[in-house]
Amino acid sequence: MRKPIIVGNWKMNKTCAETVAFIEAIEPVLHDGATFGVGAPFTALKDATATAKNLVIAAENCHYKDNGAYTGEVSVPMLQELGVTHVIIGHSERRQMFNENDEELNLKVKRLIEAEMTPIFCIGETEAQYDAGETENVIRTQLAAGLKDLCPKCVAKMVIAYEPIWAIGTGKSATKEIAQNCCHIVRDQIRVMYGDEAADSVRVQYGGSVKPENIKEYMACEDIDGALIGGASLKVDSFTKIIEAVK
Ligand code: 13P
Repeated sequence: MRKPIIVGNWKMNKTCAETVAFIEAIEPVLHDGATFGVGAPFTALKDATATAKNLVIAAENCHYKDNGAYTGEVSVPMLQELGVTHVIIGHSERRQMFNENDEELNLKVKRLIEAEMTPIFCIGETEAQYDAGETENVIRTQLAAGLKDLCPKCVAKMVIAYEPIWAIGTGKSATKEIAQNCCHIVRDQIRVMYGDEAADSVRVQYGGSVKPENIKEYMACEDIDGALIGGASLKVDSFTKIIEAVK
């Protein structure tokens, strides 16, 4: 019922030339079993959309205003002009290193929905919060604030990525039980906020040290509809293995 969605998050990696070479190599291995995409740096997006045929191209951030005195920022219409369809919002690196807060993330999500683009909204707890048993509360609080005042039909079309910060880039992936339990909490919070249709349609990804060796066990979980993948999305070889594993 929910089509899986696997997205690589390249972060601050890949030049335009590297982007084109990667997409040319990946396109032939894509299949209909899932939606596949990559989040590329702003500088590579134009080449990425020009090269991609079936690969979805995502930006890794956007501003919620359309234009103005916001040095260094990129707006939603600017991304739309390039053929970008998805935008990663609120990644923990943006929350932690660039002080993005739930209120501005909510404005970004709203602007993307207005533009009929797909937000990939990221949430997840720190290691200290995990150790203190605060995971569920963090998940529910981030969703309540970041996704407030949206329409249920819009929420149904979005993607939410649950990424425990302690599992990002650490090689220490969450067990499938933890990942499933947390993605279930995500879906339940959407049910509380927006009802059954939104909850049953929204796609929930797990992210954090996903690799060819563990993708299948996450994908077998009832509430996990895909993955947001950092390190293992950077090499054609490992991303290909992930794509083939979800056939
Ligand atoms: P890793 O897959 O490298 O742990 O990164 C996860 C991530 O941050 C994806 O957004």
